[in-house]
Amino acid sequence: MIYATGDTHGDFRRFEPENFPEQAHMTRDDFMLICGDFGGVWFGGIRDDLNLNLLASLPFTVLFVSGNHENYDLLKRYPVEEWNGGKIQRIRPNVIHLMRGQVFELQGRSFFTMGGARSHDIDDGILNPGTPDFEEQYRTCQRMHARFRVNHFSWWEEELPCEAEYEEARKNLERVRYQTDYVVTHCAPSGIADILGGGEYEHDRLTDFLEDVREKAQFRSWLFGHYHDDRILCGRFVLLWEQMVRVV
Ligand SMILES: [Fe+2]
Repeated sequence: MIYATGDTHGDFRRFEPENFPEQAHMTRDDFMLICGDFGGVWFGGIRDDLNLNLLASLPFTVLFVSGNHENYDLLKRYPVEEWNGGKIQRIRPNVIHLMRGQVFELQGRSFFTMGGARSHDIDDGILNPGTPDFEEQYRTCQRMHARFRVNHFSWWEEELPCEAEYEEARKNLERVRYQTDYVVTHCAPSGIADILGGGEYEHDRLTDFLEDVREKAQFRSWLFGHYHDDRILCGRFVLLWEQMVRVV
């Protein structure tokens, strides 16, 4: 069995048996796929351990692609390994980060993964703790209820893929001739973001890249999160937030 859900942001109560009774029939060879903004590697140390140990006690395996809200400074400390055809970072034996630009084979189906997204809530800027007037800026932003984040505390530039990740994605898509059963991302291709936001969501390099994948690739369905809603668009673009849906 393979299930998918949307942004968890470090809150995993949806996986408690009363909220997800299907797990009674699942083993570690069955998967719950989180479409970004996992948030389980966020504080570092014991605060994360409480959450991660809870996930480690689940009978199934948790897979996630990265979102815009991940602590990339902590995430990059985990070693990279090969798993089912693609690169992963293993956070716990059954908690696995599916890295960007990979194609995995799971239960006889292929999954192209490309995490990341541009944060929407940063219109008023990113503050840098190293600057001399940081505290003053921070207080001002808070007073004004500004939409801001703090570099390396609540925002990381790695929220968007780097050149090497785009290259790897292209290389792996070419290897499978742009044929994959499922695409798993955090953000949507530009055209789907336009439908969702009525033009409110700006395009960026990642949404344009994904639009290109949408045009070139043959796929059964595309699973994504980020927009905090549960909807199906154009028949096969499955936006997930709190719902848990069975994919396979
Ligand atoms: Fe989110």
